[in-house]
Amino acid sequence: PFPWYETMRETAPVRYDEKRDCWDIFRYNDIDTVLCNHEQFSSRLSSTDGSTRGTSPGERKDTMIRVDPPEHGRLRGPVDEHFTAGSLRNYRPELERLVDETLDKALADGSEIEIVSEVAFPITIGVIAELLGLPTNDRDQFIQWSRGMLPPQKTRGEDPRRERTNPVNKIHKYFEEIIDERKRNPGDGLISELVRYGEDGSRLTEKEVFDTCNLLLGAGHITSVSLLTSAIWMFAKHNIVPEIRDGSISLDSAVDEVLRYRSPLHTMPRITRTEVEVGDTQIPKGERVVAWIGSANRDEQEFETPAEFVPTRTPNRHIAFGAGAHYCLGAPLARLEADVALSKFFERVYEIEITTRKCEPIVHPTLHGIKSLQIDVGTEL
Ligand code: HEM
Repeated sequence: PFPWYETMRETAPVRYDEKRDCWDIFRYNDIDTVLCNHEQFSSRLSSTDGSTRGTSPGERKDTMIRVDPPEHGRLRGPVDEHFTAGSLRNYRPELERLVDETLDKALADGSEIEIVSEVAFPITIGVIAELLGLPTNDRDQFIQWSRGMLPPQKTRGEDPRRERTNPVNKIHKYFEEIIDERKRNPGDGLISELVRYGEDGSRLTEKEVFDTCNLLLGAGHITSVSLLTSAIWMFAKHNIVPEIRDGSISLDSAVDEVLRYRSPLHTMPRITRTEVEVGDTQIPKGERVVAWIGSANRDEQEFETPAEFVPTRTPNRHIAFGAGAHYCLGAPLARLEADVALSKFFERVYEIEITTRKCEPIVHPTLHGIKSLQIDVGTEL
């Protein structure tokens, strides 16, 4: 999409698309303004008063990502404190164990690995299962269901014609059961915490706890798979594995450049609450707006040589995690996962050859990444 983004930034930075009945916004500054201005650009895509358009009321889910302040704070508050860099620090040893186990398995049988299914997926889904506090015995089953949420791909040893079943209903049922169980027998983990919050009737309802679990699974899973996979892909493609290993290129700044250059999400939807001007264009009230953060992160007005992958880029004010009130709740977790998973991966792997013939992109309006990444690795003994 990148050449198209460049043309749009140049020729039609704010435009109405009749076919999709929405306004597209392509420039970094305009998008930053949209995301930071929830007074005029609402995240509530559905509404009961008919003043806005979007999903039908029947589909309405009031999770934090689809409501505006102050309601937003009520839904995000109870979860927020668990996702700060400070509180995640305690979780690091557990994450290191999960990464070690995953890499032991992935690197056990020879030098060929498929990164999405053997490394990125087990780590990101394992993290969510642990944070939610799912019982250890249930995790394999949960991981198997969640696997069905990944875009179809050909995995080593797996018949690509195998019929894929939709696991979403099973996951929903499982969350319902576990919330019920945690009401009776509170345990560790986020679900128990959220259930406790709900008990005095002033915080989260049972439905809101359920929706929050689904949101965390949905928002935190495929995005992080994409980040880990793209990082390994980019580091191999740009031949910087030795510099990442010896620390002459900082892993943190290289990860930020992956977030900018291969942003896992490319669009953020909003609805105008009032008539509003973006750039020189007037957008009426109640219109659907799409902020193309994938384009913002390649904007030449914000980044020098935006089409180049520069792992040491500073400053790097990318907005891959969004901006404003809805700034990604899971950003510190995604960064921690990337730090632990990639540093452990490159402790063991000193060279990579990409053997996927062509890195096939995921076909999705918002989600960006590649379906699979087959590599051959040289490992330390
Ligand atoms: C929000 C990106 C990982 C949970 C967002 C938003 C973006 C984003 C762009 C803003 C949405 C908006 O403005 O409408 C990413 C990327 C990730 C990532 C690129 C990985 C590289 C995670 C993880 C979790 C998570 C690991 C949790 C486990 C959420 C939640 C929101 C959110 C709950 C909604 C926050 C709110 O509405 O206040 N994410 N995310 N994300 N993200 Fe992430």
